[in-house]
Amino acid sequence: MHKVDVLIIGAGAAGMLAAAEAGKRGRRVLLVDHAKKAGDKIRISGGGRCNFTNVNTSFKQFLSENPRFAISPLKRFSAQDFIGRVRERKIAFHEKTLGQLFCDESAQQIIDMLLDDLRDAGVELRLKTSVHGVQKTGDRFVVELDDEQVEAEKLVVATGGKSIPKMGATSFGYDLASQFGLRVVETRPALVPLTFDQSTLAPIKELAGVALDPVQVSRGKVQFNEALLFTHRGLSGPAILQISSFWREGDQIKVNMLPGYDIFDQLRAARQDNGKRAVQTVLGQFLPKRVVEFVINEQNISGNLADMSDKKLRTLSDRLAQWVLKPTGSEGYRTAEVTLGGVATDELDNRTMEAKKVPGLYFIGEVVDMTGWLGGYNFQWAWSSAWVAGQAV
Ligand code: FDA
Repeated sequence: MHKVDVLIIGAGAAGMLAAAEAGKRGRRVLLVDHAKKAGDKIRISGGGRCNFTNVNTSFKQFLSENPRFAISPLKRFSAQDFIGRVRERKIAFHEKTLGQLFCDESAQQIIDMLLDDLRDAGVELRLKTSVHGVQKTGDRFVVELDDEQVEAEKLVVATGGKSIPKMGATSFGYDLASQFGLRVVETRPALVPLTFDQSTLAPIKELAGVALDPVQVSRGKVQFNEALLFTHRGLSGPAILQISSFWREGDQIKVNMLPGYDIFDQLRAARQDNGKRAVQTVLGQFLPKRVVEFVINEQNISGNLADMSDKKLRTLSDRLAQWVLKPTGSEGYRTAEVTLGGVATDELDNRTMEAKKVPGLYFIGEVVDMTGWLGGYNFQWAWSSAWVAGQAV
């Protein structure tokens, strides 16, 4: 039987970083993945440029039963620590918006950095390898791979979430946690476009391709000021992805197409200034033409500003600033960027990421019930939780 100190399942962001850290400490590490390549999600992330961290990362940008569980890992291996590695490697990067850091060139640079770290740390990376079973005998794990059994002192599960099954996402990590009697918080797709019934969708479809930047999208007290995108299937764009993590079936969301303006005051002032102007002309100063036409038609507005009473202006302003929508669902795991829920944090020790009930078994990255907002937070969680485990295994 092949014997190793540490077996890590999943060569994504978390698995690669943890493997390199453990390898650097002189541990014999085997890293396996059923995919053809390591770090596939890194490759497609951030539109191919990988939003690899966020300079403002704190536990406050995470959804979890216990977001504070992230405090210690995020402190021990922080955004600045990861940025330090990116700098050392001379990977050029820039801040796009809201503290989000992206590679100037390509996400592949981050993958290459991690692959080089694996090599330098003497980690054995085995791709296109499936795991057929895991047993614990005494204080060792026996793991059945395609062509052999591996015995490991420590087993690290870094198999990520369920999003994008086409890319090899599986529920392996959650199933394994259940097999060992660990509680798994119910999972659901997050950071995902929202869908609507036919009557709501019809006008949205007409606007497919149009972006509004920024809008303010809210659900209850939670709100995000980011871009919104109309698509053939519903609404997308960062603002919608963000709110989708908080949205539940039956909830309404509210969109303010013109945050930062009191559009009622603006329209009244414009009417006073020159009432002969068409309403479209004035709205066109604030919104894309297609959106203006859509709202004007929907509200049956014709004529000049002078023809509009205060009441009509108020109705129009409310339509723009308080658009209430009731999504019927989301695009699901097919397009979701992440999975909410996962291995319950109270089952794990955040100093090591080890399962409290199962010594030697570790969970890191997205498989844990710790889901970041859009903006580089999910990778930072992957790096931080992986680093912590990498020091412990
Ligand atoms: P990850 O999913 O990276 O890795 C899991 C690995 O386990 C995969 O390689 C998989 O093949 C393997 N695996 C799964 N089941 C297995 C099994 N049964 N046997 C063997 N191997 C198995 N985040 C962010 O911070 N900034 C960003 O820019 C983006 N952008 C982005 C875009 C898109 C399109 C998506 C889908 C997601 C993002 N994300 C993101 C989220 C980010 O990609 C995600 O949170 C991290 O990749 C999670 O890292 P993990 O290592 O935990 O899982």
